[in-house]
Amino acid sequence: MAGPVPELEDRAVACAERLCEADRVLLASHIDADGLTSAAIAAQALERAAIPFETVFEKQLDEDAVADIAATDYDTVLFTDFGSGQLDIIGDHEDAGDFTPVIADHHQPADRETEYHLNPLLFGINGSSELSGAGASYVLARALADVSDHDPDPSVAADGGKQTGGGESSQTRRTSSELSSDGGERSDGPRSTSEPRSDGSTVTASGAANARADNCDLAALAVVGAVGDMQAAGGELHGANEGIVAEGVAAGVLETGKDLALYGKQTRPLPKLLEYATDVHIPGISNDANGALRFLDGLDLELKRDGDWRRWAGLTNEEKRTVASALVQRAVSSGVPTKKIDQLVSTAYVLSEEPVGTELRDASEFSTLLNATARYERADVGLGVCLGDRDGALERARQLLREHRRNLSNGIDLVTREGATQEEHVQWFHASDEIRETIVGIVAGMAMGNAGISRSKPIIAFADKNDDEVKVSSRGTHSLVRQGLDLSAVMGEASRAVGGDGGGHDVAAGATVPKGEEETFVERADEIVGEQLS
Ligand code: C5P
Ligand code: C5P
Ligand code: C5P
Ligand code: ZN
Repeated sequence: MAGPVPELEDRAVACAERLCEADRVLLASHIDADGLTSAAIAAQALERAAIPFETVFEKQLDEDAVADIAATDYDTVLFTDFGSGQLDIIGDHEDAGDFTPVIADHHQPADRETEYHLNPLLFGINGSSELSGAGASYVLARALADVSDHDPDPSVAADGGKQTGGGESSQTRRTSSELSSDGGERSDGPRSTSEPRSDGSTVTASGAANARADNCDLAALAVVGAVGDMQAAGGELHGANEGIVAEGVAAGVLETGKDLALYGKQTRPLPKLLEYATDVHIPGISNDANGALRFLDGLDLELKRDGDWRRWAGLTNEEKRTVASALVQRAVSSGVPTKKIDQLVSTAYVLSEEPVGTELRDASEFSTLLNATARYERADVGLGVCLGDRDGALERARQLLREHRRNLSNGIDLVTREGATQEEHVQWFHASDEIRETIVGIVAGMAMGNAGISRSKPIIAFADKNDDEVKVSSRGTHSLVRQGLDLSAVMGEASRAVGGDGGGHDVAAGATVPKGEEETFVERADEIVGEQLS
């Protein structure tokens, strides 16, 4: 059977066959939305293939992290959403016979190769816009279904997910054994086979079983990962991602269509949806609580139910059309440029098996919910959510989300208040210990375009990592990338020049540098960006 991304098929099959030869596998993944969904896809594929495994998460796959992994007694390690950029370190352990790596990643590979390495960049597919880590993991999962004695009925699946503690004392390892504490309760998989869908239809048991038999049901998580990595930044997913979307739609787990391009269509009450929508600024509505209320009150619609404002996802199509066209009219009459108005509509990715009005139903809200867990050392909670709300994970994730939103909002306020220091080709700020190093990149990206923070230069953000090291995050725009910007190279070269290391994607990358080297780092980065854009 052909896989979703033909160029990657041979590699995917080789990786899948290697995994099937393993007695057990250590699954290692990255702590963000894409890393979590990558792990959740791989975990379900391994479970269905009856391959025992344990899961660990790492903030960053540096020498220490790889050494910890090598110290376990696993002979086979599956890396998802990282690994390519660390092939130099991993390769040394492979040569030493510590483990065989299998990698499903989309980051810029280091200057070294290994046999079981699945990465779109090796086959001319863009890893920052066409396939995410979760997408690579999905391609692998599809191949695993083909080559393994796949058992689509999880009620009789082997106890693959019942991970052994391993005895290690690190946070990540404890995390994974907590996850397996669901004991006997995991009687069925993430979804039962014949749940009623929102449109009243029912996914037939045999249809769902087929989707599960070839792992196509996992396409929904792959799309959440891609959206979480901002691969739909231009309004919709492209390239290899489109093939995955198509498989998800065919499997009945995804619906797509043009919709209002606002964040929070599932969970935000209408006035908040409009007030917080600032990507396209609509005078008198964006950032204007009373204005948003007046706008909605002025429409001839029943937008409240039992005194509470309704949410976008609960409106009828007719009601949606009325609100959307009034919004467009308002934008036109207040002089918003046509190009901006076009951005009010984009492709929405709806997880059709998830309940209406929850974060899980909208790929963008789902990905933010996941970031709210993994970036706060609670990857176990995010993984539990992806695996079908194991152990009440969703409620815990929602609490973490409230905290995450507060942190993002405080961070953006801080950066906007203090502004960025302008160099010739880059701008930068140092958050010290005022923004967590795990979210400083998200804050930098969201602050771009605010007063004093230009969108015509890449932004570099520093935050304290520990006593001796500083975390660097950088964000650009797709327009700068078209002019030659490659932040992965900038972060890699500038960090190595000061004794650190880094990498990532052209449009978003990061690094770790020794404390005190920030100025030299900025100087070097400024030079490199200048060369790239000339
Ligand atoms: O490690 P990983 O590839 O998963 O992370 C990519 C990061 O880059 C995410 O935090 C994502 O939000 C960010 N990104 C961005 N703008 C883009 C593309 C990615 O800020 N256009
Ligand atoms: O947190 P994450 O990187 O997943 O956020 C992705 C995008 O979702 C942000 O760049 C932002 O545009 C949007 N977002 C938002 N409000 C939030 C969280 C995220 O508008 N509270
Ligand atoms: O941490 P941050 O969100 O800034 O990371 C942006 C991108 O750079 C992510 O894809 C991340 O995996 C990558 N990165 C990296 N090496 C680092 C730090 C970040 O490849 N040392
Ligand atoms: Zn990723």
